[in-house]
Amino acid sequence: MLIIDGKKVSSDLKTEMKVRVDAHRATTRKVPGLTVIIVGEDPASQVYVRNKAKSCVEVGMNSSVIEMPASTSQEVLLAKIHELNANSDVHGILVQQPLPKQIDEFAVTMAIDPAKDVDGFHPENLGKLVMGHLDRCFVSCTPYGILELLGRYNIETKGKHCVVVGRSNIVGKPMANLMLQKLEATNCTVTICHSATKNIPAYTRQADILIAAIGKARFITADMVKPGAVVIDVGINRIDDPSTKSGTRLVGDVDYEGISPIASAMTPVPGGVGPMTIAMLLKNTLQSFERVNGLL
Ligand code: GUN
Repeated sequence: MLIIDGKKVSSDLKTEMKVRVDAHRATTRKVPGLTVIIVGEDPASQVYVRNKAKSCVEVGMNSSVIEMPASTSQEVLLAKIHELNANSDVHGILVQQPLPKQIDEFAVTMAIDPAKDVDGFHPENLGKLVMGHLDRCFVSCTPYGILELLGRYNIETKGKHCVVVGRSNIVGKPMANLMLQKLEATNCTVTICHSATKNIPAYTRQADILIAAIGKARFITADMVKPGAVVIDVGINRIDDPSTKSGTRLVGDVDYEGISPIASAMTPVPGGVGPMTIAMLLKNTLQSFERVNGLL
């Protein structure tokens, strides 16, 4: 079984990006800049935001984190986004989700300039993705990271049956649409399963490429997987484990131990899809910078 090492690929990508950022700094005296807004104190979000900022610095980009209180009104948040839209030093804007309930996430997504929407959440970017214009849009970071992994590991995808479990706007929907495109590392027959699907195992057992983005610990078990399948695990779930120092540990949406003897290739958790998400966020920010500076 081939272990698809997202940690290694993301590290390689960051090294490649650092070279490009350094070259741009030398020729333009400018570097890409990412601004992340976090509203409230969700601990998981704080960890993600910290990791994003740290990774920016690693590749030589500017990073700025704006922390706003949980009581922030939608009006104040939108005003901040408009200010960042107008700031030419900011090439990427990311508003960390989830947002407090007084804020309409869709209104926030719509407020971000599509040219700075490095999350790829804006309908203009998602629409271009659906139409297959990947070179003219920002692709949502997790699906984009999975595409990069499939490509770098030369996973055969053309004509294969890809089953995506999960239909979120962030992962499931863009992922399924990507796999449908007539491009490299895509060109699949695609099935999407979700919470209302009757008999999910009947579909997953037909998958040559199975992408699990459900958000439930070890939801996909060995009996749901076709021998020889490529299994991509998007889940990050914290479960109790008294044998560890913290009393908890991270597991995916896939039962890794049960499935690894029958799969042909798998992404581990941690160290699979997770590190790729941040790498692709940096890649999108670099692309935004290169686009506005005529470097593409
Ligand atoms: N929350 C969890 N994942 C993400 C992400 O990729 N982008 C944003 N903005 N919020 C998130």
